[in-house]
Amino acid sequence: NKHLLSVDDVSPDDVAELFATATEMHDVQRRSVKKLPALRGRTVVNLFFEDSTRTRSSFEIAGKWLSADVINVSAKGSSVSKGESLRDTVLTVAAMGVDGLVIRHMASGAARQVSQWTDAVVVNAGDGTHEHPTQALLDAYTLTRRLGPLEGRHVAIVGDLTHSRVFRSNVALLTKLGARVTVVAPPTLMPAGVGPWSEAVGFATSYDLDAVLPTADAVMMLRVQRERMSGGFFPTAREYTVGYGLTRDRLGLLREDTPILHPGPMNRGLEIAADAADAASSAVLDQVSAGVAIRMSVLYHLLAGEGSVA
Ligand code: CP
Repeated sequence: NKHLLSVDDVSPDDVAELFATATEMHDVQRRSVKKLPALRGRTVVNLFFEDSTRTRSSFEIAGKWLSADVINVSAKGSSVSKGESLRDTVLTVAAMGVDGLVIRHMASGAARQVSQWTDAVVVNAGDGTHEHPTQALLDAYTLTRRLGPLEGRHVAIVGDLTHSRVFRSNVALLTKLGARVTVVAPPTLMPAGVGPWSEAVGFATSYDLDAVLPTADAVMMLRVQRERMSGGFFPTAREYTVGYGLTRDRLGLLREDTPILHPGPMNRGLEIAADAADAASSAVLDQVSAGVAIRMSVLYHLLAGEGSVA
């Protein structure tokens, strides 16, 4: 079986095919076609060990609109709360005869580990601070629909990089598609190892948001992930917003039509002001819609045919 564990699993040609299929799914999203029969008889389990609104519900909608049987299992309310291990949970679910496992887990590497325990197709829906490949695909799809081909386009990714799997998957995918990426964070939220080394492999770093925004073709704001911060949060929330928030004042540094992305959930007033989140150029809800189309495309390519990503 093929899986989608990492952005490394897809080539630029695969991405083009995934995007083309996602676009074909729009008739279902517009509800002019109610369902496609592609995954009739297939069973997909959404196994979520961390909270989610967008990813879990869009995988559920995607599977259902492709006629799969979709079951949601979350840590809360399952025997995980009684101490059952990840391996036993996966083996138990797999023994029921599932075709696809969509997994979110707080441990980096969990999705790859799960893929070694089961014959089911595994899709990584976010593993710790490591990767969130379908988020990167839906972000690149949203950007492509706004900007056209991403080759040579400059994308600024701003925020809590240390704790962000969205940053890691997006840098890998956007650079693979030829975009120029600059990542911006306060020094305390710039991951160890990101710096001159990163620039050598294809993306730039900056601590100065005001200098980067005027050159950006798109800006992606990331959530401050306080739940992953054990050693306190520095800078303070106020300092963070002053230095790194997309405030109303900073909107003036962007062109009027520069897309503003945020994977959600947003901390309004911390990393993004309401004026930015709700601006005409905001792509936040487009990202959510794209999430359904992209997840339909991924499930289709992994589960409907011979089992390849594209
Ligand atoms: N973007 C994202 O992964 O959101 P959820 O945590 O709500 O799924």
